[in-house]
Amino acid sequence: MNQAKLFFSLTLVVLLLIFGAWLVFFFQWSAPMPRTAGPTATGPTTGTVPAPLEPVFNPPAPEDAPEQIRPMVMLGYKIMTETKKYAPGYVGNDMACTNCHFDGGRSKDTISLVGVGAKYPLYRGRREYTADLALRTQGCFERSMDGKAPAADSQIMQSLLVYYQWISKGIPIYSTPPWAALAHHLENDHKPDAEAGATVYKDVCARCHGDDGHGTPIAPPLWGDGAYNDGAGMNRIRTFSVFAWRFMPKSSPSLTQEEALDVAAYAHGQPRPKFKATHPNKIERVIPLPGEAKK
Ligand code: HEC
Ligand code: HEC
Repeated sequence: MNQAKLFFSLTLVVLLLIFGAWLVFFFQWSAPMPRTAGPTATGPTTGTVPAPLEPVFNPPAPEDAPEQIRPMVMLGYKIMTETKKYAPGYVGNDMACTNCHFDGGRSKDTISLVGVGAKYPLYRGRREYTADLALRTQGCFERSMDGKAPAADSQIMQSLLVYYQWISKGIPIYSTPPWAALAHHLENDHKPDAEAGATVYKDVCARCHGDDGHGTPIAPPLWGDGAYNDGAGMNRIRTFSVFAWRFMPKSSPSLTQEEALDVAAYAHGQPRPKFKATHPNKIERVIPLPGEAKK
């Protein structure tokens, strides 16, 4: 008899609790939706626009990517560092992306790709060249790698995009990280002298890049069949000279700006593969933008 009473009261308590919970949920869900999402959602008032966040160099490791993107991030990193192995058929020379974007672009002292996910898409109308990161990367495959452009919907491209995004974690969108991109050119009036550059090459570069410039087991080629082609960014004296002055010899850069300009002129005069376009490389422009000539 006592047990039956106890059982009855317990059931009553449980039922009351369930009913109470239902009431709470019912009223929460049926409460009218607020017109604004809260006091913070009213937008900045004039004059109080927050200062832009400062980009901080702190690229996360590929293996620290969250589980759902980790395999793609890891594959992207491998494509950057062992390009021929992981993007077979798209590389026409003896180079890897990492030869110019050291450590897959994760380094600061290189053409760094940390923050690149926050910098794109950008539209470079005047050069008739638009760039989301897929188009930009297709250019590097065709030119720097003297190869073929992987399609935007290929696994190669998609994993590179995920990789770029991951190593750009925390960089505010459309900020300008001070380490990103090469300077446009050296601030120096020196007239590049290829003959003087030949001496710089022999004295400083040849021990790693080879007497013939065709590369060695410890450093990639600078010219010849295995090098970047004549459509590559590096095949400009201004780009090569900034790169050589800032980063070469690797790990202990030592050139004067004059030497960098001279050796760039020397390398520029050497034979290398010819650029062949494998995709349109620009978007179809229908609407002329300010500053653009009508077509
Ligand atoms: C101590 C060896 C060493 C010396 C000396 C050296 N480099 Fe390099 N260089 C490298 C390595 C290694 C790489 C590729 C880095 C990587 O893959 O991480 C490289 C990459 C390059 C690249 C980009 C990749 C390519 O092959 O086009 C250029 C350009 C370059 N070096 C130019 C020069 C010039 C010019 C000099 C002489 C002023 C020079 N290097 C001296 C080791 C060296
Ligand atoms: C021979 C050197 C070289 C090689 C190899 C190379 N790149 Fe580049 N890359 C460059 C140069 C030079 C730029 C332009 C940098 C600038 O203007 O600041 C660039 C720019 C880029 C950019 C845009 C960076 C930015 O800040 O706008 C991406 C992305 C990129 N490369 C990806 C790749 C990938 C992926 C590969 C391999 C498939 C590759 N690159 C191979 C030299 C190279």
